[in-house]
Amino acid sequence: MSDIKKIAVLTSGGDAPGMNSALRAVVFSASQFGIGVTGILRGYDGLLDWETRELALDDVRNINNQGGTILYTSRSERFLQPQYRKQAAENLKRHGIDALVAIGGDGTLRGAIAFQEEGINTICIPGTIDRDVSCTEYTLGFDTAANTATEAIDRIRDSSVSHGRCSVVEVMGRKRGYIALWAGMAASADAIVLPEKWDGNFDSVTDTIKRRHADGKNSYLVVVAEGVTDAPELAERIREHTGIDSRVSVLGYVQRGGQPTAKDRMYGSLMGAFAIELLHQGKENRIVAIKNDLLVDYDLAEAVEIQNNQLDSFQYELSLRLAESITP
Ligand code: F6P
Repeated sequence: MSDIKKIAVLTSGGDAPGMNSALRAVVFSASQFGIGVTGILRGYDGLLDWETRELALDDVRNINNQGGTILYTSRSERFLQPQYRKQAAENLKRHGIDALVAIGGDGTLRGAIAFQEEGINTICIPGTIDRDVSCTEYTLGFDTAANTATEAIDRIRDSSVSHGRCSVVEVMGRKRGYIALWAGMAASADAIVLPEKWDGNFDSVTDTIKRRHADGKNSYLVVVAEGVTDAPELAERIREHTGIDSRVSVLGYVQRGGQPTAKDRMYGSLMGAFAIELLHQGKENRIVAIKNDLLVDYDLAEAVEIQNNQLDSFQYELSLRLAESITP
């Protein structure tokens, strides 16, 4: 068992629904072990500038249902540089902090790995709508974002059907296609364009639209992940090759906001509590992850080597098969 008395917690990178649940569980669980929690505001930047607030139980009540992160966030350029990481470590040591919990995506994890050199014990919790942290099957925020995107696409479809147009909808995900695959399949898209499967050939999309047109369909839906191509260019190609009026909707930040789903609240709570459990057990420099739907933990440096969340080919092929069999 560890003799940790005080920890700090921060959220970093793109905000993700479920981060607040993780934070709440960190503070509640820490208090059960008699550990005090300092909240660092604005991610790694706040660590450098020592922008903080002490977190008591009352500070994290009624936040489970809130989107965003009550600690605010940043993408810190300074933290990429060793001299600033040294300064951040000195700040933590000067304030008697024994360990750091960092909630965020791939950039947050890489920052934590570099931070090990400064002798700071960091536990990471994967939180990003992109689901692009390679060692875990789930990252906080994905479920909410996929549901938000699905709902938005359903609305766009209504207008698309009324006007007999093709809608090209761009969703987030950085270099990953999870949001596009899930929202595209859930909204019965005619074509889903994913970074993991993209070969640069626009014909595959325009041919699909032409086939659907020949089947008698009069409106079309294409969902494209932001990591693939420019959605306006794709719409232009569709227009050129099919003659069908094609309109673009970029969903953007609407996907990152809003009330977390039950899944994100639940996983946030589990991951937050598990992070404290790891610290209590005396573990150092770990990331919380989900494997076979169970909580596990990995060494931070090893975690970036693990590649177990490649987009599932069966899911992708099914999305193609279902698109071809949709009735007009
Ligand atoms: O990583 C989450 C994410 O929303 C990505 O999907 C997107 O590419 C990026 O963040 C946008 O980042 P920013 O908030 O810096 O514009």
